[in-house]
Amino acid sequence: MAPTASGHGATGYGARITGVGRYVPERVMTNAELERMVDTNDEWIVERTGIHERRIAGPDETSSTLGTRAGLAAIESALIDPATIDLVIAATCTPDGMFPAVATRIQHAVGAGRAGAFDVNAACNGFMSALSTAVQFVAAGTSQRALVVGTETMSRIVDWTDRGTCVLFGDGAGAVIVERSVEGEPGHINALLLRSDGSQADLLWASGPCTPGAPSPSSALGLAREEARIVMDGRSVFRHAVNALVETSMEAVTNAGLTVDDIALCVPHQANRRIITAMADRVGLPMERVYVNVDRYGNTSSATIPIALAEAEADGRLKPGDRVLFAAFGGGLSWSAMVVEWAGIRASRAGLPTGILAARA
Ligand code: COA
Repeated sequence: MAPTASGHGATGYGARITGVGRYVPERVMTNAELERMVDTNDEWIVERTGIHERRIAGPDETSSTLGTRAGLAAIESALIDPATIDLVIAATCTPDGMFPAVATRIQHAVGAGRAGAFDVNAACNGFMSALSTAVQFVAAGTSQRALVVGTETMSRIVDWTDRGTCVLFGDGAGAVIVERSVEGEPGHINALLLRSDGSQADLLWASGPCTPGAPSPSSALGLAREEARIVMDGRSVFRHAVNALVETSMEAVTNAGLTVDDIALCVPHQANRRIITAMADRVGLPMERVYVNVDRYGNTSSATIPIALAEAEADGRLKPGDRVLFAAFGGGLSWSAMVVEWAGIRASRAGLPTGILAARA
């Protein structure tokens, strides 16, 4: 079967990633700072999670402002006019408010004047869900050029008195541009899989303003209300995460008609270094071919994969034609894997500064 530039053919879905960017807040919170807040220590956090520090959004920053900075970096790296973007999807479980969608604020702020925009919430699996949606829109021809953003202010829903969860999360945003594949050029989505198991929803969840609960001082008119707060059974989540990531990654690689040896780089969800190394070991991927930056940012939920992807590109770890494996896992429970043939970022191919490095400074 001949390669197809659209739809789902021998090469997969006729969509490719042509830009990538990221933005993280300036404020760094180290493990030493956490030691002063809860009964924990740097040695325990590093040994059990691999995390050394994370970023915390400033008082005026929100998921839409972080997402806008990441989106602009992605637009810059794709060398495109934002006015040509016709779809903006933001993945977030920490929106600025209950509505409107964070994506609409980003759509306006980046100058995508004629784009439709909506949010996707699949917790830490959000970026993969949003990217899968954009891939379908672009492959079907409904959208020509989509901006997909993963953006989170997890620090706003972390329970800072719970040492079992507060050491894990951080804030940040990453973004990609998705366009149609071009015949004869690298750049396809070779395989994608989304899975979920709602029977395990209570293992990892966050309450919010619509959660029934005991009346609190902030309740209006005597209505029961809860503040947003993450609740997690860490040990069970860990076990589910490794099994799900391994199974889905293997299946996606097989569906792409490849073997693990063909994968140039794996960019997994960055929740915990031990989850990543256990997954890589069972899948048979040496760690030299797995991108890890959880040490610097902790778990930024739906932002981890696009942040890692932007840094992998800036570090020169990706070249056109490379097969890249994304794998994510999160509350839901929900998980996913995707095999991507790397198109190459236009700015890097043209030898121009991508905006990613500038945003890192
Ligand atoms: N500092 C010091 N001690 C801590 C601690 C902290 N921050 N958090 C928990 N502990 C203690 C526990 O209270 C427990 O003490 P006990 O033995 O006296 O009861 C001990 O450390 C071991 O706890 P346990 O929960 O078994 O540790 P663990 O090795 O499973 O590591 C996690 C805990 C949370 C790091 C780990 O389970 C994990 O990463 N799970 C996945 C979480 C995740 O990634 N969620 C997001 C998915 S998208």
